[in-house]
Amino acid sequence: MAAVADIWHPAWHLGHAGHVPDGLTAARTLEAFHERTPARVADTTVAEVDGRVAGFIMVVGDEVEQVFVDPALHGAGVAAPLLAEAERQVAAAGYAEAWLAVVTGNARARRFYEKHGWRDGGDLPYEVTAGGERYVSPCRRYVKRVR
Ligand SMILES: CC(C)(COP(=O)(O)OP(=O)(O)OC[C@H]1O[C@@H](n2cnc3c(N)ncnc32)[C@H](O)[C@@H]1OP(=O)(O)O)[C@@H](O)C(=O)NCCC(=O)NCCS
Repeated sequence: MAAVADIWHPAWHLGHAGHVPDGLTAARTLEAFHERTPARVADTTVAEVDGRVAGFIMVVGDEVEQVFVDPALHGAGVAAPLLAEAERQVAAAGYAEAWLAVVTGNARARRFYEKHGWRDGGDLPYEVTAGGERYVSPCRRYVKRVR
């Protein structure tokens, strides 16, 4: 899971810094991602390019919780099959609709989801705990029928 953390950290900052509370951004250190990832093995699926981890998803029930691609490979077609696999996993778990939270200011991710058939289902203040503090990030709830 070290390779996952090494992607999660720079990709998270690219999509979130400036769009979430500054304290949350400060708490999202590389070390923090390395601490988080081992507990997430069961939820995680990775994509590989030339034998190296290029991106990953984490799916929990009907929530596509994480979709992250190595910034060097943005726009390279890695993300779409990962998102399709996440949708497949939600459907296989018996749900008719998948959902995810995307930070309101994360325009690239929003465009990516919309071009793959996801729709904006409205405001969703998303609560996270990091470094012992609670933060609320301004998010949109995106949904897609998966079966
Ligand atoms: C979100 C992510 C997985 C998408 O993968 P990707 O390879 O970048 O996706 P694509 O290039 O296929 O699609 C992105 C789209 O946004 C467009 N885009 C790029 N920058 C943009 C911007 N600032 N505003 C609006 N659209 C933008 C691209 O042109 C592309 O649209 P197009 O295909 O119509 O030209 C990837 O960018 C990523 O890992 N981002 C950082 C982490 C993140 O934010 N994850 C999502 C958390 S909810």
